[in-house]
Formats: sequence, C-alpha cells, structure tokens
Amino acid sequence: SARIPMVAGNWKMNFDHLEATAFVQQFARNLKSGRFDFSKCEVALFPAFTALRSVQVLVDADNLRIRYGAQTVSVTSQGAFTGDVSADMLARLGCSYVIVGHSERRKYHPEDDANIVDQVRAVLAAGMQPILCVGESLEERRKGIELDFAVGQVHDVTRDLSDEEAERLIIAYEPVWAIGTGMVATPQSAQDAAEAFREHLASTFDDHVAQMVRVLYGGSVTSKNAVELISEPDVDGFLIGGAALHVDELTRICMLT
Ligand code: G3H
Repeated sequence: SARIPMVAGNWKMNFDHLEATAFVQQFARNLKSGRFDFSKCEVALFPAFTALRSVQVLVDADNLRIRYGAQTVSVTSQGAFTGDVSADMLARLGCSYVIVGHSERRKYHPEDDANIVDQVRAVLAAGMQPILCVGESLEERRKGIELDFAVGQVHDVTRDLSDEEAERLIIAYEPVWAIGTGMVATPQSAQDAAEAFREHLASTFDDHVAQMVRVLYGGSVTSKNAVELISEPDVDGFLIGGAALHVDELTRICMLT
C-alpha cells in the first residue's frame, strides 16, 4: 500500500530529560548498526514535555531520522491557561505528531469528544499530525459492540473535518483492556477494527482519505507479537507503551516492522 508503516513509542510519564537523552542515543546507535531503513518505516518517540527539547537538540545535532511528538496538547493557542502547552509551541520544537485522546487522558483528565475534536484541529492547524486513540473497554467487548463503539469514537471526532484535514490523521486502535495488561488483541481483531475504520472513512470522506490514513494498533505490543499484527493488510504499525521503555526491545520491533 501507499502507507508507510510507523512505530510510535509512547513513554507516558516515564524518563526525565537525561534518561530520554541516553535512550535516544542508544536507540539511534541500535538502528544504525541494524541498518534500519527509515524510508520503509517511520519511527517516533513521545517523551514527556520536559524531555522534548532534549530530544530535539539530539535529533538536530546528529541529523537523526527519528521523529517525535507530544502526548497531549492544549486546545487553545495562548494565554491564561496555567499548565497547558500549545500546538504552536510543540510545532516550533520540531514535533511531527501529537497523541490525542489516549484512554489514560480520557480517564484521568476531563478529555471528552468535544475537547478531543479541538485538539485534533489545533494539531492540524499547527502543521502536525494527530494520532487519535480510540478503542473499547472490556464492557463493550463483552457485549460484542466493540467495533461499533470504536468506529463511533472515530466518527464523533472526525465528522466535521475536511478531506484535506482527515487525510493527515493517524488512528491508533487501542482496546483499553489490552493496554499494559499483556493481553494483546488477536491480529484478526486488530485487522477487523482497522478495516472498519477505513470503511467508515471511505463512507464519510473521499476514498483517497481512507487509503491514506494510517491505522496503528496499540496494547501490549512486543517483539513477539509484532510480526503477526503487522502482517494484517490494514494494520500500519504500532503505538507502544511498556515495550517502548526498553531500547533493545523497541529496536527489535522497528526491525520487524
Ligand atoms: O500508548 C500506548 C498504549 O497505551 C499501549 O501501552 O504497550 O504498555 O500496552 P502498552
């Protein structure tokens, strides 16, 4: 397909700027010695805000092809919003992407669909790409409504986007029950979700949009299950939590993708 696979490492609230620096240096060495082909797979890291500048300096100094982004973003552009970070601030730090609507943000912060829509717009307006996270909890899966639920989340966030905006989306299918649990979704259910998103996009936007949008799978991805998952035609890569904290493991996943 025309879609370039992507391996995204979401560090969540781990690694200060010194640990992040050491990780990136080792990761870059690993990928270089493995002759990793960046033209065939995009690699991106998502450090905490405090480590983004350190990652930028390193990437610039050594001309690394590792990309990076933030884990969330403010919906406003500037002003009296204590604690928030704007999309323009992130874009100026060289961020390529922002994770939007991660289930942990939906759970621990008041991030609802309206807020997530605004984040997506802010990220797009600043010239970056949003990685929109969706996925059912065990409750929906038990009821057998997981696909309707996850497609519904995509619909709610994307319905007012233009084709030009929608084309730059990246969707991460992250079933909540699979996050950090060791219970990975089967390749078939990751494929079913990715295919359902693509069908939905094709019904809402130009078919080109549906073909362009990358769909990542997230939830207990390791080097042991990555190959089977990426073999599915509509799964375009991974959003990785726990395994992205181990540099050799993350390298292995990149080499397999
Ligand atoms: O953003 C990453 C996901 O929440 C997956 O986390 O790989 O630790 O299950 P995990």
